[in-house]
Amino acid sequence: MARCYCRWRRVLICVCSPCICLILLVLYAGIMVCTDMNRKTRQLSVDSIRSLQNKHFVASGGFKSNTFASLPKSFWKFHEEAFWNRLQVTIDRHFNPILKASKTGTRIRNDSFYDSLLSHSFSDVIDLEIMKKKIELLPKQMQDFVRYMKRRNYPVIIQPSSSTCGAGSENHKEPPLLLLAIKSTELNFKNRQAIRQTWGQIGWVVARRKNGTKQEVGGYIRRVFLIARDNFSNVGVDVSKLLQMEAQFYGDILQWDFSDTFFNLTLKDVLFWNWFSNRCGQTRFIFKGDDDVFVNLPNIIAYLHEQLEKPNAEQTMKEFMVGDVIGAALPNRLYHSKYFVPDSFYKGLYPTYAGGGGVIYSGRLAERLHDVSRRVHLFPIDDVFVGMCMARLNASPVHHPAFLTFDFPEKEEAEPCAYHTILLVHKRSPKQLIELWDHMTKTREQCWNVPLRVSDQKKNAENEKKNHDYIILP
Ligand SMILES: *[C@@H]1O[C@H](CO)[C@@H](O)[C@H](O)[C@H]1NC(C)=O
Ligand SMILES: *[C@@H]1O[C@H](CO)[C@@H](O)[C@H](O)[C@H]1NC(C)=O
Ligand SMILES: *[C@@H]1O[C@H](CO)[C@@H](O)[C@H](O)[C@H]1NC(C)=O
Ligand SMILES: *[C@@H]1O[C@H](CO)[C@@H](O)[C@H](O)[C@H]1NC(C)=O
Repeated sequence: MARCYCRWRRVLICVCSPCICLILLVLYAGIMVCTDMNRKTRQLSVDSIRSLQNKHFVASGGFKSNTFASLPKSFWKFHEEAFWNRLQVTIDRHFNPILKASKTGTRIRNDSFYDSLLSHSFSDVIDLEIMKKKIELLPKQMQDFVRYMKRRNYPVIIQPSSSTCGAGSENHKEPPLLLLAIKSTELNFKNRQAIRQTWGQIGWVVARRKNGTKQEVGGYIRRVFLIARDNFSNVGVDVSKLLQMEAQFYGDILQWDFSDTFFNLTLKDVLFWNWFSNRCGQTRFIFKGDDDVFVNLPNIIAYLHEQLEKPNAEQTMKEFMVGDVIGAALPNRLYHSKYFVPDSFYKGLYPTYAGGGGVIYSGRLAERLHDVSRRVHLFPIDDVFVGMCMARLNASPVHHPAFLTFDFPEKEEAEPCAYHTILLVHKRSPKQLIELWDHMTKTREQCWNVPLRVSDQKKNAENEKKNHDYIILP
């Protein structure tokens, strides 16, 4: 009897212990999921943000940055009350591999699939009474943004001649190194002309390496201006005929049919990625920036060659983006600011993003951004939107102190070689661009071997100027 009992006990242990383990595992997983969800609905405390700010990343090229932090990945926290967060959560749920395991992966996703997903989630949220009330209280330009935010299929009015990827495409013997994609407006003819005459030259451009040798490197450069439509009732003249002539002459105009307002700038990114993916597959890098910046193109060519020569370049190019990176920033909550985003629209921190004055990223990243942007709702601030798409690709932009989107620290500009140490500086008028170009030519020999800037003194300059798309935490 006892032996029989013993045998049964052994069998029981054999059969049951895996069951018990399994039950424990399920319990553990359940608890983890619950706590994670709770955490998602809680606001980040200032302390935890501070601790995030203390983490540093090392920029490509080996420059240490002490002022910028790596960022929380889950910036798009779910907030019932904030319009954008609520919209985005419906989309994110759809792509959640746990919640929608059967739907992800196998299904073929075409453009109409994404369009309908965006517009469904939009109608679901906008029809809520509480949201309707909130939207009525938004400032006028924000209301306008909300009204049109699910539309992105605006037609092209003017584009570079058939199947070329911007001006400068002729007689290429190798894939273009860089496409300059410059945000401009119909009326900014002077800015475009100054860029064409100075740093925005196209074709084969040579530069000197920055490593103490006078060795030269080069690359094919292309150029395109990204333009929408101005409101001519403000100025009284219609310049669209002039723009057409300009486009015929230079072949570098890409214009879409939507109003060129500040909150519509995000459309330029989204539509540019689409155009790029169709036409520019071979292009290695993109410079995307404003038409009031000065770019040290030779330095950029040398820098990009350096990146391409790194041992694991093939891999890093998948997510290569470099610029003036802003981390742990809060939306600007000053009502009268141009960048004002109320917390009824967006709650939480902004993701890490590169300031929109000028940023460089790889062509491969552009194609991936194009894909992922189809499931991110438009956001009124364009560089933040790009940051959001980056976060969804699980990639972060790299900071480089030679992108001076907030200008030189005081006095430094006067040093003769100052402009040879940078990649970009914001903001310069067309007249200044031409003077600077002249200055660069004159000082080229004298300054041929100055290295790129490595220190980052922009924090102070930043705090002096208040009108930003973000607020830095104390
Ligand atoms: C897109 O895919 C859906 C099914 O997912 C299909 O019904 C629709 O016809 C497709 N549209 C196009 C333009 O291919
Ligand atoms: C500069 O870079 C080039 C290309 O990587 C290399 O061949 C050359 O040896 C370098 N010169 C110095 C002094 O490091
Ligand atoms: C153009 O500007 C005028 C005056 O500021 C305004 O009344 C009008 O609504 C604007 N038109 C469009 C299409 O934005
Ligand atoms: C964006 O462009 C569209 C199309 O021209 C326009 O109707 C809308 O008002 C614009 N949005 C904003 C926020 O200016």
